Amino acid sequence: MDLAVETHALTRRFGELAAVDGIDLAVPRGSLYGFLGPNGAGKSTTIKCLTSLLRPSGGTIRILGLDPATDSLAIKRQVGVIPEEQALFERLTAVETLSFVGQVHGLDRATIQTRAGELLDLLDLGPAANKLVADYSHGMRKKLALAVAVLPAPRLLFLDEPFEGIDAVASRQIKEMLHQFVARGGTVFLTSHILEIVERLADHIGVIHHGKLVAQGSMAALRSGAGGKTLEEIFLDLVGAGDTEKPALDWLA
Ligand SMILES: Nc1ncnc2c1ncn2[C@@H]1O[C@H](COP(=O)(O)OP(=O)(O)OP(=O)(O)O)[C@@H](O)[C@H]1O
Ligand SMILES: [Mg+2]
Repeated sequence: MDLAVETHALTRRFGELAAVDGIDLAVPRGSLYGFLGPNGAGKSTTIKCLTSLLRPSGGTIRILGLDPATDSLAIKRQVGVIPEEQALFERLTAVETLSFVGQVHGLDRATIQTRAGELLDLLDLGPAANKLVADYSHGMRKKLALAVAVLPAPRLLFLDEPFEGIDAVASRQIKEMLHQFVARGGTVFLTSHILEIVERLADHIGVIHHGKLVAQGSMAALRSGAGGKTLEEIFLDLVGAGDTEKPALDWLA
């Protein structure tokens, strides 16, 4: 299988803690891969390792068939990222931000203008296009982060919680955009706690729990192995919720 992301025994430690504990990821090219796990499971740490924001403690990574240790520039040219904590330039407007990103990627002025206009329109950021990022709401920042990731037309997108804080109108546009991107051969690796979105969008799933990959495969295989369960039910089974009923807070009225 042609893989966009492949890892063997990928590990990242923070002191004693193995936040990512020997995972073997296999993300097919042209797939939309939903990477699921409870809070603190290791999702963001994995994405940071895959995008060279963090150095792995062990294991190997291949991105689009390339080795990040030797081909980092070639990888950067083909990859877009929304990291967990998106750092944007507070003193720039959205238009200035996208123009800067486009120039860094060597796009010409006309291309930048066309793409930025289309992205701002798609994400309903048009009215705020000339406002300083410092004055943006949480959701507006999130949308701009997506525009930054997409503008250079990458082949592979890493999106850490792209739908968190995004309104229903923009969510729908983003879902359609990702669908189209994948239909044209792009690959998306995303994390989300909104399982209904992942269920509808993703064709491949990986589940991480306490740093270990506890399930991975096509959505169809996962579903057929689980006898008609929803993704939420499959997920809760995998991460062991439900088998320990926690007491209610009897002091909370
Ligand atoms: N810089 C750090 N230093 C120490 N521990 C860290 C650091 N970053 C993450 N961790 C720990 O690694 C584990 C995995 O964190 P990570 O952020 O990858 O989880 P996550 O799956 O993205 O969770 P969430 O759904 O809440 O975003 C957690 O136990 C976290 O406390
Ligand atoms: Mg996270």
